[in-house]
This record gives sequence, structure tokens and C-alpha cells, in this order.
Amino acid sequence: MPHSTTKQLPLGLLALVLAASTSTFPGAAAPSALGRAGSNAPAAAAGGGDQQEALRQAPCGSTTEGGPEGPAMQANQVCAAGTKPSGPVTEPAFQDPDRYAWQTFSELNQPSPGHGRQRVWQAWANQLDVFVSRPDPNHPPTWAVATGTSRRDRFQRRVELMAALSSSSSSSSSSSSPSSSSSSSSSSGGNAPQPRYDAQSCDPDTTQQVFLNRPQFEYVVGNRLWYVEGQIAAFMAQKPIQLPTDAKVVKALWRPIAPADRGKYHWTESKGKLYGLASFLFIAKASPTWVWASFEHVDNPCFARYEAPQDTFGVTAAGRPSARLLAMFRRAGLDPALWSHYRLGGVQTSFTDTEGRPVLLGNSIAEDGFQTTSSCATCHSRSTVGPHTSDKVLGAGRLPIFNGFYAGNGRPQSASGAPDPSLYDDFSTSPPTRKYLQMDFSWSFACANEIGSDSNPCAAITD
Ligand code: HEC
Repeated sequence: MPHSTTKQLPLGLLALVLAASTSTFPGAAAPSALGRAGSNAPAAAAGGGDQQEALRQAPCGSTTEGGPEGPAMQANQVCAAGTKPSGPVTEPAFQDPDRYAWQTFSELNQPSPGHGRQRVWQAWANQLDVFVSRPDPNHPPTWAVATGTSRRDRFQRRVELMAALSSSSSSSSSSSSPSSSSSSSSSSGGNAPQPRYDAQSCDPDTTQQVFLNRPQFEYVVGNRLWYVEGQIAAFMAQKPIQLPTDAKVVKALWRPIAPADRGKYHWTESKGKLYGLASFLFIAKASPTWVWASFEHVDNPCFARYEAPQDTFGVTAAGRPSARLLAMFRRAGLDPALWSHYRLGGVQTSFTDTEGRPVLLGNSIAEDGFQTTSSCATCHSRSTVGPHTSDKVLGAGRLPIFNGFYAGNGRPQSASGAPDPSLYDDFSTSPPTRKYLQMDFSWSFACANEIGSDSNPCAAITD
């Protein structure tokens, strides 16, 4: 509602958008330029659609210049890879990423033999059983113990949310926000930026679980990366951290549901309360920069509201699950009546599009408050260890999770595009000095404790 006219765009942004659409994309003002945005996003949910829409057309990636204010992002602003492939598909993750994402979703959500209602990923190791409390290097976690425990399905608080809130509370002291153009315009009273989102309304009281598959687990434990001192030792030795090509991690977000909703959610019970699977994110090491996929339940309050979904495989022009997807579910033994309530938000396979514009992808709950600047791969490229890494605050002694603040909603924002080499090395010395060692895109390393300590912020909220 507050974003229904272009008048409410800050003048600077409007000028930017107009300049971009006229000088760079002369044809972009034509309604046909809405293209996939109009057909792929459920129109009502996307919230746009008035005749002023054409004025908002801007090249994909322009949202990172404009900041997270303004109208909802359309599909063509997000620079996603998602075009239908032509020719033979030999590398599905890259040539047909949407299909690959759904295929992986279907495989991971098959029932896990011997685990009742639980799915394949729910039989993996909870990260709380990898990055254990009070680690003792002489007693490393084992796969049998991690997956055999009856406490495997413990919930955690949403870690990014906590990091975002703690960054926000210290934001007044930091005036070095890289998005200085938006912060200066925000001080001009009536022209204050209009945030795209009321972040509070996007998160229906969710809790999270993170599960590591066995190749990921064995690598983390085998290389002594499951406690902080082991990670620092890797930094000192400058030993590259490279997870194997079959490593996968799932992040699941759960929300409380009513018993009547069991038919449309994958659900679980914890301490007598019923939870439905609201978001499902997976990362797969199909390439050195991983493949990133974000799925959401259609009932998530902000799904498709601020960022148009990108899916060339699983959804029809009318926003319904495609026949191909339903057939895939049936082959995998997933009940279409239930699983057809899930949607692919998008897949990220690179930092930028072919012209160097940042590819953006965010889950409406996991990246709530910074969804419109979110780049899964770029933010995760900052998972690092340095000489002063500690377990005292999430990310302490590592590269910062966020990249400055947006004045309009007080929320920290994601970096996007290609990582900056000078974050990892100090090039003012000769030879350059190593500042941080990259931890292969897995932020879960930040959940590690120091030997004997249990102060990391990824602690369980249910036991
Ligand atoms: C601004 C930073 C940021 C962005 C953007 C971001 N994440 Fe994360 N992600 C984190 C942090 C911090 C964690 C916390 C570590 C944890 O809970 O395991 C995390 C955890 C995860 C995990 C758990 C495993 C692990 O080792 O990291 C997955 C899977 C994941 N994110 C996927 C995604 C996907 C997919 C996207 C894009 C749709 C995304 N993330 C966007 C910061 C980010």
C-alpha cells in the first residue's frame, strides 16, 4: 500500500530509475517489459500492477543502488539466472537450476527409512551436535552419536535475526555505512526513504534448525573445524577449507500451526506443540561457489511480496504448481496435496549475471528485513576465520555478516555481487598480509564454541 505510486520514491531514486530506464534500456518502459515478472509472480501477492508500473522498470540489480526502499522488486530486477534451457542438459544445477532445485527438494524431502515421518534431511546431523557445547578435542563428535540422539530435532533461535538485532542496537555508533548516499538523503525530513517492508510482519514466530549431511559433517570434524581453536589453527596454517562436492546443508524454519493445518504443511511436534515447515533453504557444493535455493510455504506472509519468485519449472503462469512438478513429487513419493503448498523463491548459481550485475536472492523469513539486498552467495562468502575469532558474539573476529545499515527500517543489509579481495588480504603490505581465511561459504562455522565453553549464540531453545 505505501508503495503504490512512484511519487513516494525518493527523488534521487526516481531520477536514477528514470535515467536507467531511458538511457540504458530504451524499450523498458513498454508494458511488455514486465515479461516474466508478471507471469511468474502471483499478481495479487506481488502487490504492483497499476499503470505507473512501467516507470519503475530498471535494469536488474539496480535495487542495490536504490537501497531497500520503494516498490516491490519485479523478477527482471533480480538478475536471476532462470531462463529455460535449450539443448541437452548435462549439468542440471547450472543449465536448468530451477528443475535441479526441485529435484533436490524432492529427494531431500522423501521419507527417511526407519525414521517415521521424518525426511531425509531430518536424519542428518543437527548443527548443535557438530558445533557442540563445551567442545573437548579429545572427544570429537561422531556421525553415529550425532544422528542417533533423540535430541536431534532441537530448535534454535533464528541466528541471523539475532545478529541483525544486535547489529542494529550498535548501529548508532557506526557512521561508516557504505550506503552513504541513502543515509544522507534520509536526513532530509519529508524525503525520508520509504522502506519496502515492515520487517516485523514478515516473520510468523519462526524457529530454525540447521542439518549437515554426512560429507559436510565428516569434513568439519575430520579437519578439527568444530571448535574455535581448531578453526584458528587452520587460519595460522593457511590451510584452504574446501568442503567435498557432495556436501549439503539444509536450513529449515518452523512456525507454530493449528492442527487443522496439518494437511498443508510438513509438520513436526516439539514439547507437545505443533510446528509447520515455513521455509526450506538448501546449499549444495555443486560448484566452488555452491548452489543456493530458497523455498517457502505459500502462506508465508511476505512470500512474493517484496521479491518476485523466479521459477521456470515448478509453477504455471497462473502461479499454480506445474504438472511437471506434481509428477516429480509423485515419483519421489511426496503427497502432492501437501507438498504443492511449497514454492521455489529462486536459485542462485553465481554472484553476478553475465553483465556483472549483482544477483539477488532472499527468503522472506530468513532474510526478513534485508530481503531486497540479499545475495546468499555474497553474504556467505564472508564466513571466515581470523586470528581473533571468538565464540562470544555470533561472528566475532570474523568478517562482518552485514554491509551497513538502511536508515528507512533500521535494519542491516546484505552485501551483493562479487566479493572484495581486500576483505581477505591487506594489500598495503608487500607481500599482502592475510586477514581472514574463507570458510567455504558455511556460516554454520560461526556456531562453534571455544574449548570448554558454551557461549556461542546458536544454542538450543528446546531440549
Ligand atoms: C546477510 C547475510 C546472509 C544472507 C544474505 C544469507 N545468509 Fe544464510 N546464513 C547467514 C548466517 C549468519 C547464518 C547462520 C549460521 C547458522 O545458523 O548456521 C546462515 C545460515 C545459513 C544456512 C545454514 C548452514 C550454513 O552453514 O551456512 C543455510 C543453508 C543458509 N544460510 C542458506 C542461505 C540461502 C539459500 C540464502 C539466500 C536465499 C542465504 N542463506 C542468505 C547469513 C546470510
